[in-house]
Amino acid sequence: MSDRWSDVDDYLVDRLLPDDEVLAAALAASDAAGLRSINVTPPQGRFLNLLARILGARRILEVGTLGGYSTIWLARALPPDGRLVTLEIDPATAEVARSNLARAGLAEVAEVRVGRALDLLPDLAGDPSYDLVFIDADKPSNPDYLQWALRLTRPGSVIVVDNVVRDGAVADVASDDPMVLGTRRMMDLIAAEPRLDATALQTVGAKGYDGFLLALVTS
Ligand code: SAH
Ligand code: DHB
Ligand code: MG
Repeated sequence: MSDRWSDVDDYLVDRLLPDDEVLAAALAASDAAGLRSINVTPPQGRFLNLLARILGARRILEVGTLGGYSTIWLARALPPDGRLVTLEIDPATAEVARSNLARAGLAEVAEVRVGRALDLLPDLAGDPSYDLVFIDADKPSNPDYLQWALRLTRPGSVIVVDNVVRDGAVADVASDDPMVLGTRRMMDLIAAEPRLDATALQTVGAKGYDGFLLALVTS
């Protein structure tokens, strides 16, 4: 089935997404730098872009930059005075992202901060609240990232978490995979959190079978 899923992604990209030399160059540069190809797919990137525009997001936080592919999709949704902060643990990877963002003309709106996200997130606590948070870094830390996202947002903000299904592993109660355990603990936090209304959608596509979580901060 997974060839079919990729074929359909190709078809949807061909019909629905404009050709984009800047995004293609970002992926090529990421590849040349030896980064793993675990960026969101083009349809997912556009979903993030549309979501940010639907929200009228002016401030976006991303946890997990890689080469800045999702960052470009998100930052493009911002108004000229908007701002995106993205957190990346690996300095060489962050440099690739900075270069990709500069090529995209987004160096002024998107800032890549380097370090462990859990060390950098406290620095953001004094900022005005974020309208959209995209969590897409090390999955074992998802419970901590979710709690930080709650601290850094306001009622009306949206939190998106990538890779919450993982070939269905999320539903495996016996899993001892730290990524699965992290996501399941995050789900438990959300279940007990009255300030969040959440759902998760299973997805198939060029990256296989996975899914994302969407949560609205209600109060
Ligand atoms: N959002 C990107 C993909 C991110 S992949 C896209 O879709 O285009 C996950 C990234 O998180 C990797 O670049 C990895 O180096 C980074 N990462 C892993 N652990 C981290 C941590 N503790 N703090 C910050 N970044 C981390
Ligand atoms: C992995 C991480 C991701 O963010 C993703 O979208 C796909 C895979 C990984 O670490 O394997
Ligand atoms: Mg991901």
